[in-house]
Amino acid sequence: MARRARPALDPPRFERGSSCGPAPGDSLGAMLATEATDLIRDLLAATASADGDVTAAIDGLGVERTARVLVEEVVFRARLGDTGVRAGEAVSVVLALAHRGRELATTVCVGPGGIEVRDGHTPGTAPPPAVIAQDLVEVARALYGPRELVTAATRAIRWPGHRFVVPSPDREVPPPFYYWVVQRVVQVLDRRGAADLGELAVRCGTDKWGALHQYTPHYERHFAPLREHRLTILEIGIGGYEDPRRGGTSLHMWKHFFPRALVHGIDIADKSPLDGPRLSTTVADQSKPEELLEFAERHGPFDIVIDDGSHVSSHVISTFHTLFPHLRPTGLYVIEDLHTAYWPEVFHGDDTDLGDPRFTVGFLKTLVDGLHHEEFLRPGARAPLPTDTQVIGLHLYPNVAVVEKGSNAAGSPVADMLRAARATRS
Ligand SMILES: C[S@@+](CC[C@H](N)C(=O)[O-])C[C@H]1O[C@@H](n2cnc3c(N)ncnc32)[C@H](O)[C@@H]1O
Repeated sequence: MARRARPALDPPRFERGSSCGPAPGDSLGAMLATEATDLIRDLLAATASADGDVTAAIDGLGVERTARVLVEEVVFRARLGDTGVRAGEAVSVVLALAHRGRELATTVCVGPGGIEVRDGHTPGTAPPPAVIAQDLVEVARALYGPRELVTAATRAIRWPGHRFVVPSPDREVPPPFYYWVVQRVVQVLDRRGAADLGELAVRCGTDKWGALHQYTPHYERHFAPLREHRLTILEIGIGGYEDPRRGGTSLHMWKHFFPRALVHGIDIADKSPLDGPRLSTTVADQSKPEELLEFAERHGPFDIVIDDGSHVSSHVISTFHTLFPHLRPTGLYVIEDLHTAYWPEVFHGDDTDLGDPRFTVGFLKTLVDGLHHEEFLRPGARAPLPTDTQVIGLHLYPNVAVVEKGSNAAGSPVADMLRAARATRS
């Protein structure tokens, strides 16, 4: 199988505790990423409506396990790695989550070397940490429930003391650094201040915005209305090629952008070291439909599929045929890097017959015809496709296509009339 050459600008190596990537794994203790994701799936279900019994769900899932997952999620979303802490300024903040009269405390230490998460209060740190106390159930709802149900009725912030922030007569005191950290955590708990995709792309290090591609404004247009929904997202092509620890930058971007989504990545190479809560990777070759099918039957249906894999037209087209049926009835299917369809080098493309349906852009033209499948007057004008009644929109931008799924079977009274007139004449 033809493999894509490593691009000149490979995404930078992802560092633990960086501004975009996973929180330090030790906040999950011995929990596996899959266990954390399963727990989040249950929390997403329990918090989906105002009348869900979240207390009972947490009791069933385990209070400590739930608290660990929530803290990991807060640290991930808060992107504490880019608060600009300098050497000698490391600070700690305690998250104290209350459940049935118990307090589960976790100390989050932010330093120039990264983020460290420890169970309990950490005694003896200078300055002493600010404490953000809130009910566990309220935090679970704030992170995974619908945005309109987010409240902070039980939150209390215990500041270390005003002696750190009151200016003395002879010197001004800048806001202490922990203000930034507390503010970021509170922002997450309030579901405020989410970055746009362009900013996230740069922060996370994916090439979806920059010198290579400018996809994020198009994604913003199609994805922003879905941002707060419960979603299952699949991206083919995780990045980093053979190196299991490299890549995952766009998966992290999706995880940040869609706070209630479960994000799946498929790659021909093993990427399991990138697995984390809400983010799972699977080894599969998109040129082998049976591997995609097995995956889709296990993890689908999907709300969004993004094909950023081999970019070989035959793979792109067979992947579409395999996965489109596993897209939800109103899902979005994205194909990136359409230009490769014209490039014989590396991607086996072709620029001699631009309508050839064996290449991705020509194939998309068959979907354009399919949009109008009820309008053809001449019998046999085109062979029907299974997708004809299921594609309601095709959005084409430089190098990227967004295919919108929906019901396209409203009928065409005028075409019916013209067909009837033709039949009478003949
Ligand atoms: C361009 S990178 C993906 C970049 C990533 N989506 C991002 O935006 O950061 C392409 C990835 O596709 C993977 N790939 C290549 N051929 C594949 C195939 N046949 N099936 C699945 N993945 C493949 C490569 O290993 C590589 O990691």
